[in-house]
Amino acid sequence: HPDLICARPVVLVGMMGVGKTTVGRRLAARLELPFYDADHEIEKAAGMTVSDLFAAHGEQSFREGEARVIKRLLEGPPHVLATGGGAVTNPETRALIAERTVSIWIRAEIDTIVKRASKRNTRPLLQNDDPRETLIRLMKEREPFYASADIHIDSQTGPHANTVDLIVDAL
Ligand code: S3P
Repeated sequence: HPDLICARPVVLVGMMGVGKTTVGRRLAARLELPFYDADHEIEKAAGMTVSDLFAAHGEQSFREGEARVIKRLLEGPPHVLATGGGAVTNPETRALIAERTVSIWIRAEIDTIVKRASKRNTRPLLQNDDPRETLIRLMKEREPFYASADIHIDSQTGPHANTVDLIVDAL
């Protein structure tokens, strides 16, 4: 029941392309909570796109901004938050997620991730010759962090609405 989980923010984690933003927005509507997308919040704060931020200041600087934005949001009232795929690489962010939120890992097979993440050209980490290799490496590094989420949900091949239903049932 929505009332049960309203006390804590609901945070979506998982690799690029699994649908965290779409699922998060719909989940927030179902739970009648505000929705935030960490990448979008970073873009607003920096006044530039994630790609431009990476290009102008580098990944490290992006990660610092990402951690700050997530901290600010998680210290606020309950909401649904879609994080960027790499947010869990920050130890402080991981601690905050573990302590203050209901976390949900949206899991997908590597083939699905490669297909979906490569679709749009907005991801600076995939601007190289071999996005598949990169995604496999990132998945290996991050899987243990994703796996510590409270709830694991398989991304559905059909509409994202099915994924939202599975999450609502799991909550
Ligand atoms: C990243 C994922 C992106 C974005 C940035 C880095 C990553 O977010 O934060 O391009 O390191 O996996 P999405 O997971 O929303 O694509």
